[in-house]
Amino acid sequence: MKFFVDTADTAEIKSLAASGLLDGVTTNPSLMAKTGKKFQEVLADICSVVPGPVSAEVAATEFDGMMAEARVLRSIAKNIAVKVPLTPDGLRACRRLTDDGAMVNVTLCFSAAQAILAAKAGATFVSPFIGRLDDVGENGMALIADIVTIFRNYDHFRTEVLVASVRNPMHVVEAAKIGAHIATVPPTVLRQLFNHPLTDKGLAAFLADWAKTGQQIA
Ligand code: E4P
Repeated sequence: MKFFVDTADTAEIKSLAASGLLDGVTTNPSLMAKTGKKFQEVLADICSVVPGPVSAEVAATEFDGMMAEARVLRSIAKNIAVKVPLTPDGLRACRRLTDDGAMVNVTLCFSAAQAILAAKAGATFVSPFIGRLDDVGENGMALIADIVTIFRNYDHFRTEVLVASVRNPMHVVEAAKIGAHIATVPPTVLRQLFNHPLTDKGLAAFLADWAKTGQQIA
């Protein structure tokens, strides 16, 4: 399973990239707005730190505007994945962009039917938002299971399932059990994945015992 981090905070991204566990980054207009910085600078900075796909979302809602914005976004770095919404215009842009060799992340997916359309449009990634589905009383993880099952039925669907709107470590674990290709995870949740109280307790005991030996390894 690949891990993307879901943030536009470059300091966080740099720190997490140092772990060697980061395969990519996703941003969206809300995350970009939080930075208070120019999007070109933020994206160039992120792309220089993370060699994997960095999703940058268009703000236009009709095809021509999306294509014009996609040109600007793609000119920032080779590893930009253009993020388009799951709308008729978004999927039309997706097809045109992928035919032109771009990576495309189709975002705001909330149903299996929508995910099939994204795959047929040649999307590199489709992003089902599980947390937001859970928030309205639906089962986000069941959607991931449906999409993974459907995509496995068709060899020609090359679209990767990018689990989005992740809220806790169990979302990551459940998505991995299902076989989703990627989880995009907020920095706090990514850090939570490391934690277990028995690891801390075990390490403290080992260090205390080692100190008693009076030895040093290096
Ligand atoms: C995905 O690419 C989105 O940026 C993100 O996962 C949305 O998550 P949220 O529901 O926490 O805003």
